[in-house]
This record gives sequence, C-alpha cells and structure tokens, in this order.
Amino acid sequence: MRELTLGFALCGSFCTFGKAMEQMRRTAGAGYRLVPIMSNNAYETDTRFGRACDFIWEAEDICGRKVIHSIAGAEPLGPKHMVDALVIAPCTGNTLAKLAAGITDTPVTMAAKSCLRIGLPVILCAATNDALAASAQNIGRLMNTKNIYFVPFCQDDPEQKPTSAVADFNQLLPTVEAALKGRQLQPVFCGKA
Ligand SMILES: Cc1cc2nc3c(=O)[nH]c(=O)nc-3n(C[C@H](O)[C@H](O)[C@H](O)COP(=O)(O)O)c2cc1C
Repeated sequence: MRELTLGFALCGSFCTFGKAMEQMRRTAGAGYRLVPIMSNNAYETDTRFGRACDFIWEAEDICGRKVIHSIAGAEPLGPKHMVDALVIAPCTGNTLAKLAAGITDTPVTMAAKSCLRIGLPVILCAATNDALAASAQNIGRLMNTKNIYFVPFCQDDPEQKPTSAVADFNQLLPTVEAALKGRQLQPVFCGKA
C-alpha cells in the first residue's frame, strides 16, 4: 500500500505543544510521512512553555524536513498532492474562528484551504479556553462542514475554566484513521482530556 503523508500543523496553544510533539512522534512511528507546518505565532513565539527554535528543531527532526511557515509554502499542499490529509494539532480558538469564517491569512489556514479545495480531510485537535463561549459557534459550524473532523474533546477543568475544552490528544491517530475513511471518530465529546 502507498505510504500516506499527513500535513501536521501547529498553532499557538503553547501549553499543549508537548502533547502535540508526542503525537507527532507517534504518528511518524505508525508509518505516516509527515510535512510539518506552523502558524506564524507558533513559529515565532517563545513562551514559558519553551523556545520556538527548540520546537522547530524537534518537529524537523521527527518529520525529516523543514517546517513550512509561510502562506506561499503552504499553498501547494493540496493541488500538488503533497499530503493525503491535514492535522491541525493544536488548533487554537483563533484558527477555529478563521477556518469557520473562511479567512486564509496564516500558513495553517492556507494549508487547510489548500486541502479542502481538493476534498482532503482536515482533522482539528482543538485546545481553547473559550470553546464553550466565543469559539462554540465556530466549533458548531466546523462540525457541520464537509471534510472537517474533530479529535474528541472535553471540558478539561469545568470548575476553574468553565468554558475551556481540550482535545484528547491520545485520540489523534484513531481520529486520522477514521477521517481517512470519511468517518468522524465517536464519541466526539469524550470523558477526559
Ligand atoms: C502562553 C500562551 C498560551 C496560549 N494558549 C492558547 C491555547 O491553549 N489556546 C488558544 O486558543 N490560544 C492560546 N493562546 C493564544 C494564541 O496564541 C493566539 O490567539 C494566537 O493569535 C494564535 O494564532 P494561531 O492560531 O495563528 O497560531 C496562547 C497564547 C500564549 C502567549
């Protein structure tokens, strides 16, 4: 069987980069070729969760190729058949909003547009404190959008962060495998993050 290639895009949910890298490694270990992509914020921002250059190094080490970090770099992903599906992990509230509104002004939203235009699956691994507030309408809209799939997610801290939700990153690979068959992994609202 032909080896499948996934775009693996990171947005600026910096506190979940550790989990995203773990899943990037797991996905590569499962035999997928990976094309790393980063939003401008993910590519350029150092935070208390780590330095951008270290995450870039790690992603390039796992994927064996340079991170795509420009709109021009992401544009050919779909039309040139560089990938079979796109994973956005982590996917911020900001990127959810742009995807829901059809805004394409980052490498990650360009990658999504590029894949959706030829009917490739786009898998969102969301992590945002406003999932049940400002982002709720965007999540709802994207759940009702063809070829978009969600890694199952749940409220991570209902008492302290009542509107927050985070995907169960451990479900990323099963979600990709289901999405490649045109199916949303269920239950999409899961028990734990
Ligand atoms: C330390 C830090 C942690 C952040 N964590 C999150 C997060 O978990 N989820 C989220 O939606 N935004 C988070 N943000 C905000 C995003 O980085 C911001 O909305 C940014 O515009 C996202 O751009 P992007 O979606 O293009 O990567 C965080 C910002 C900082 C500085």
